[in-house]
Amino acid sequence: MKFAVILSSVRPGRVYDLPMLLGRFAYMDKNEPSYSKLSEISDILRSCDAFIVCSAEYNFNIPPALTNLMNYFLEEYKYKPSAICCYSPGSFGGIRAGSVLRSYLDGLGCPSIPKMFPIPSVNNSVKEDGTTDNETLKKSLAGFLLELEWYAEALSAQRAKGLPQ
Ligand SMILES: Cc1cc2nc3c(=O)[nH]c(=O)nc-3n(C[C@H](O)[C@H](O)[C@H](O)COP(=O)(O)O)c2cc1C
Repeated sequence: MKFAVILSSVRPGRVYDLPMLLGRFAYMDKNEPSYSKLSEISDILRSCDAFIVCSAEYNFNIPPALTNLMNYFLEEYKYKPSAICCYSPGSFGGIRAGSVLRSYLDGLGCPSIPKMFPIPSVNNSVKEDGTTDNETLKKSLAGFLLELEWYAEALSAQRAKGLPQ
């Protein structure tokens, strides 16, 4: 199974630097300057069996950089599961953005698995290199990934039989 991790972060080095939404990639003119970058992202998404959407929280909501990136695509997500990881420096771990993300991902056709992976106090619990010493987080991540793998395998087997008409 191949998973893509989709980040909301606008920190340097984590940004695709895409223009404000110009419409779906599927209908885009090949001469559009961002076409090749979007084509590369489309190929990655198509090759994946599931998506881990890792989101910060902006004003109790989904950061616009994330929806700007994800809105370019639709068919790429269809009949594949997603999983929500959310984080914030506060004690709620971005859970309000995570809740909004659930219905957003339904709209994109890649419904999220029941388990969510919120990371509270992210600035203290996760190190600069992305690792953590927090055993509770590690345990919760393991369960989260196992559940996603289960759904990814189940939906992959169903997609192989054909899609609903
Ligand atoms: C415009 C804006 C709105 C924010 N709103 C919230 C919020 O509602 N809740 C929260 O917990 N943190 C909020 N934050 C703090 C972010 O969670 C924090 O900056 C986080 O580190 C952003 O993720 P990143 O560093 O990976 O980009 C906000 C930050 C910005 C810039």
